[in-house]
Formats: sequence, structure tokens, C-alpha cells
Amino acid sequence: MCGIVGYIGTRQAYSVLIKGLSRLEYRGYDSAGVALINKYKDLNIYKVKGKVVDLERESENKDISGCIGIGHTRWATHGEPNTVNAHPHCSQSGKLALVHNGIIENYVTLKAKLESKGYHFKSETDTEVLVQLIDYVMEKHHLELMPAVLVAMDKVEGAYAIAIIEKDRPEEIVVAKKSSPLVIGVGDNNEYFLASDATPIVEYTDKVVYLKDGEVASMSPKSGLKIENLDNVTISPEIKKVTMDIGQLEKQGFPHFMLKEIYDQPKRITDCMRGRVNPKTLDVVLSAVTDHKERLLNAKRIIIVACGTSWHAGLIGKRLLERFCKIPTEVAYASEFRYSHSPIDKDVLVIAISQSGETADTLAAVQMAREKGAFIYGICNAIGSSIARHTDTGSYIHVGPEIGVASTKAFTGQVTVLIMLALVLAKEKGTMSRESYEEIVKELLLIPERMQKMLEVDKQIKPLSKEFTFAHHFIYMGRGFGYPVALEGALKLKEISYIHAEGYPAAEMKHGPIALIDNEMPVVIIATRTCLYDKVVSNIQEIKARKGRIIAIVTEGDTVVKNIADVTIEIPTLPPCLEPLIATIPLQLLAYHVAVCKGLNVDQPRNLAKSVTVE
Ligand code: AGP
Ligand code: GLU
Repeated sequence: MCGIVGYIGTRQAYSVLIKGLSRLEYRGYDSAGVALINKYKDLNIYKVKGKVVDLERESENKDISGCIGIGHTRWATHGEPNTVNAHPHCSQSGKLALVHNGIIENYVTLKAKLESKGYHFKSETDTEVLVQLIDYVMEKHHLELMPAVLVAMDKVEGAYAIAIIEKDRPEEIVVAKKSSPLVIGVGDNNEYFLASDATPIVEYTDKVVYLKDGEVASMSPKSGLKIENLDNVTISPEIKKVTMDIGQLEKQGFPHFMLKEIYDQPKRITDCMRGRVNPKTLDVVLSAVTDHKERLLNAKRIIIVACGTSWHAGLIGKRLLERFCKIPTEVAYASEFRYSHSPIDKDVLVIAISQSGETADTLAAVQMAREKGAFIYGICNAIGSSIARHTDTGSYIHVGPEIGVASTKAFTGQVTVLIMLALVLAKEKGTMSRESYEEIVKELLLIPERMQKMLEVDKQIKPLSKEFTFAHHFIYMGRGFGYPVALEGALKLKEISYIHAEGYPAAEMKHGPIALIDNEMPVVIIATRTCLYDKVVSNIQEIKARKGRIIAIVTEGDTVVKNIADVTIEIPTLPPCLEPLIATIPLQLLAYHVAVCKGLNVDQPRNLAKSVTVE
């Protein structure tokens, strides 16, 4: 996964790289490094095991001068996180330095070949073969850097976004991309930036070029930006404009991004609905549906593909699409779907959900379904991301950059888009009465306000979470729309507090998991007043009879569950399909406060990365 950055121009590169790496740390944070060339053409490489702050400490009092440099923040795939395996990697000749995001699948074969030519490897990474291979091609064919990269990358299998600098020619950075993201920023004063996403670039320039798969580019203040693909065809750069509120990339007074993003939800859901839900006419309009009405309405089957939290949003989408639009809908883990034999044809609509728009499995699932003729609808957050660009149409969730590794506002944004999509399709298909449609739209418009009110529950949850610091396990339960909420609550807790947590459909408990219940097992139950309320109450009784400690999310005014549960958290009366937008908030806060009480790094939990750009 990892993040790469680079700069060439008239500024001192180091501070651009460090700032950029901090922005990309959500992608990986087990080690970090930079390579800089100073005015004497010395190549200085600093790298550490740890985070960007450790790298800053390491490079204190060292020569960090130079107007050209590349940097890396790593999420190890090959070789443990240590200084030797950290990027940038240097060629044996000492001439080249390279950073890489991705996995080189044929690195064993390439490594053996290079070893037979006398190359020695220092690290255990797959990446090191790239820098040695480029060095070898340059030597053997007497090529300059860019043509050598074109030759070398043709021999490489796997995924990569790379940036390379050459000690003796500090006038260019060469980059290449296949399956991992790479954005080039074009500055006003003959300067160039590169990064895994636009966040490190936006404060310097709004002009970006998204490099495409199989493209290699040379960025040079002297000779400009040149792009060629692996078939040696020259490509003219397609400059796009990006706008991003830089304030959204800062914590703005919150102790963690995750808490800021939880509190951001009322505003972001308003943004998500802006221009789409008309408060006067109560009409919902999604331009993607307007533009592709026929294809969408003709879908006989829908398959939602996603991973993690986005997959949980997909489970809510299934319930909405089947209930409102009467279209059979499946929800598949993208990683399973991409290798499945699921019959796909032009009558299938695939909805790909991804916050980052870069998740490798979801992207591959999209590509597979596309090849088989399905129509692809993307629900992404990151504007211009790979998934957004590889789908036939789609709707952005518009919740702004999400930095905390644990997804919060993106989940509620995804659910909001799915609600709007189901409403629009149901209206077009005539599968929902105008009365029910309007009732839901009216309530949907009130969601930001209700979210704001719900955040007051923080006062109740913060002290409560202290009690669970020493819990080893948690169970989350729900039914109907409450089941995906339970799964999401459990995922939040395990991701950031490292407490084992499982989500179950409440009635499944008695088919096995109930054996786990004892007086040490906290059980979080979504027990709102839906048509299954009485059945959930029975499930709660079953837990209580076995002495489980019950934390129940109930509808305001509930008295029945209040008498049984140890703790109740009230949410307002809502149509069940909208409950996930509100019921998720106390679960996000519970996970957050438990992790904070445990003294854990909430925004950067161990072993995880925000964008999973490897298989
Ligand atoms: C959520 O808290 C997780 N960190 C993770 O499950 C995430 O939702 C998953 O990796 C999918 O990411 P995407 O939405 O960017 O595709
Ligand atoms: N495969 C490389 C490594 O392990 C890059 C990792 C990544 O992109 O996350 O160092």
C-alpha cells in the first residue's frame, strides 16, 4: 500500500516531501524514508523504521538540502519493517534511488537473473529488483533514465507506482505506473510534484495529471513533462483541475482524525445530499441515473462489490434495493468475487463501493465484471481515484478526505448515496408509492440535524468506555438494517482497540455463538422499534439469562429493553432504512473511546493501512 511523494523545482524538496508523507501516512506507516540530491550531486538517503516524525528526527543535523527528492511511507508486503527494507532503495552502482508502491510478482525470477549478472541485494523487498533492473538496463543498453525505465518495466509483472532519481542528473524525476495510483502535480514555476494521491499536492497547485497504467513520465523543469507508454507511444498530458479544502486535511483542534471525522458527519451528509435531494419538491436526482436510466432500469440483478466497511454499507444497499426497487441484489467481497464464477452479463449491474477508490480487490472486481459486459456504477469518495475512473458511471459521496484508518464518515456517506440511489430507481421503476417515497425523503433531509443531536451521546459513552478497557471479546448483534450496523460496530472496535469483536444477526446467536456468553462478555445490541423488535427482545432475554453485559441501542421512549439491558442508548424514531445513519454513531464513539482509554494510536492502528492497494 504505502505512499510515495516526489518534488523537483526551485524549492527545498525536503519539507515538501515530509509534509506530503505525513498526508500519506494513512496509507502505511511502518517505515519512512527520503532521497535527496544536493547541489554537489551527492545522493543523500535517510530512512527509518517508524513514522514520518521518526524520519524527521533521524535527518536532524544532516544534509537535507536539494531541490529534487523522493519519499516513501511504507506498509510492508515483502520483508519486515526495518531500516534496510525501508524505501528509497538504491542501485548497486549508487546512481539511482527509487520508491515503490505495489508488489512485483515476478521479483524472484528477476532477482535471480540480476544476481547472475553480479548484482547483490541488500533488502528482502521485491522493490529492490526494480532499481537494480533499471540500473542494469541503463548500463547494458547505454540508455538514459526514461528509456531505460520503459525497457525495464516491460519485463515487470505486478503492481507498481514508482519514482526514480539519478545522482548525476538531478534535472529529472522519472515515474511509472501500473495498478497503483500516481498523480503528478504541475506547478506554475516549472516545478513538478508527484504523490500517491492529490493530498500532498493541492496546496502547491491545482493542476494534476493522473498517470494511466502502462505509462512512464519524465518530470523536468528544463524539458517539461513527457509521457510515453510501454508501447513507446508519446502521450500528451491531460491536465485536470483538483480542488480540496486543505483544512480538511488537518485535525482542526480534535485530538484525532477519527474523532474529527465522526463529528464531521452532520456537515458531510449535508454535502452528500446537496443538489441531489430537493427539500421543496422532495425529489431526489442523481445525475448518474439521469444519464444512464435505461441501462440501470434494465438491470435484472445487482451485485455490490466492496471490502471492509464499504462491504457493510453494501449490505445496507442490498436491503434498500430489494425493498424499494425489487431487484435481486447480492453483496460480494470484492476479493472473492474477482475469482468467482458468478455468471455475469449485460443484464447485471455491478455497484462498486470504495472510500479510497484504490482498493486493489475492488478495482480488479470492477475490471473483471466490465470485461464480462456488466454495467458498473461506482460509489467512491476520492475524486478521480482509480475505481471512479474505471466505472461506467457513479456517484461520489462527497464527504471530504477521510484520514483516520477506521472509516466513519465515509460509511454514512456511502449509506446516504445508496438510500438516494434506491429511492431514484424505485421512483423510475414505479416500485414504491409516492407517499412512502416522500416520507423517507423528508426524514432523510432531517438526518444531519439528528446526527448532530446524536453526537451528544459522547458524554454518555466516554465514561462508559472506561469499563471495557480490559475486555477481551465483544459481541455485536442486530437484525434487518441493524445487522450490518452490528458488523460495522464490531469492525470499528477490533480495528482500533484490538479487542476481538464479532457481529451476528441476533437470531443466529442460538446456533452457536451463544456458547460464548458469560458475565464477562459485553454484548452490543441494536434493539430499535422495528417489525422485529419483539424477537430482538427475546434474543436479549436469552443473553441476559446467561449473564451477558448488555449495551442496547433503543428507540427513544423504550421501556422494555431499558428494564433488561445494563446500558441503553437512545436514538430517535426513524424509518428502519435510515436507522443505520444514526445508530452507527454511538458505536463509532464507543470504539474510539475504548481505544483512547487503552492508549492506542487511534488514527494509525497496527498492521493496517487506509488504502489497501495490494491483493
Ligand atoms: C474500515 O474501517 C477499514 N479500515 C477497511 O475495512 C476499509 O473499509 C476497506 O479497506 C475498504 O476500503 P475502501 O472503502 O477504500 O475500498
Ligand atoms: N512491496 C513493497 C515493500 O514491501 C512496497 C509495499 C507497498 O506498496 O505497500 O516494500
